[in-house]
Amino acid sequence: MKLLEKFKEVQNQKKALMAANFYNLETCKGIAQAAGILECPIILQLTAGSIEYMGLKTALAIARTVSEEENIQTWVHLDHCNDIKLIKSCLDEGFDSIMIDASDKNIEENISVTSQVVKIAEPYSVNVEAELGYVPKPNREIDKNRFTEPLEAKRFVDETGVTSLAIAVGSKHGFYNGEPKLDIQRIAEIKKITDVFLVLHGASGIPSEILSEAVKNGITKVNVATDTKDLFMKSLKEILQKTDDIDLRNVFPFATNQVQKMIKNKIEIVSMAN
Ligand code: 13P
Repeated sequence: MKLLEKFKEVQNQKKALMAANFYNLETCKGIAQAAGILECPIILQLTAGSIEYMGLKTALAIARTVSEEENIQTWVHLDHCNDIKLIKSCLDEGFDSIMIDASDKNIEENISVTSQVVKIAEPYSVNVEAELGYVPKPNREIDKNRFTEPLEAKRFVDETGVTSLAIAVGSKHGFYNGEPKLDIQRIAEIKKITDVFLVLHGASGIPSEILSEAVKNGITKVNVATDTKDLFMKSLKEILQKTDDIDLRNVFPFATNQVQKMIKNKIEIVSMAN
């Protein structure tokens, strides 16, 4: 099933799809195993940094092979990209979904760059995600003045033709200072006046009740990255304090398993929001 069809299906059920970033074989396995246990499809995401680290073909092959071995449906998505050359390479390699992130530009420039990418992606029939408003990158502060305006979102979607849109409603990438708060009303308003699938970035650290409300009110894709990196590294540190085993094949599975449990919990929240 194409990702856009799946989005429609989960949206009609007022549920969402988890989109989890992976960084290596182990994190990809942890994510895919969680989806496998729940027999639930999932989006596997790669940033330019992860592609540079693993290599484009290797990263894609890991995602595809692990999905096959876990017997789950997955879609591979290019997360936050402002490099049109890399977007083209990912489309040519067979990615199911891409994101053009021009959210640091003003709305006119964002519309112009995003429209260009929508045109490039058209022959591939994939999901094209963009961002309007600004979801702070790690270590940047949340700024209500940069939340997505519903009317601007409608204009942006109408003029660019994107199929999904990341919106700024109080979430941020990386760790939160204090309890995260989302503007649920704003999600509902944007959903009401736009014909686009809405994406929540920065879902690490958001309590389950808030995540659930966001999904019930119109979020269709929920992005998680920081929780995976944080948990994987903390788990490795924990196990390395208890063992001198140099066989990494005995050590890494503990961290993979912790990622699996965490992602399983997140999938349960977003795919059972009702
Ligand atoms: P976190 O790293 O805060 O989970 O955000 C993930 C994300 O939005 C990826 O695009």
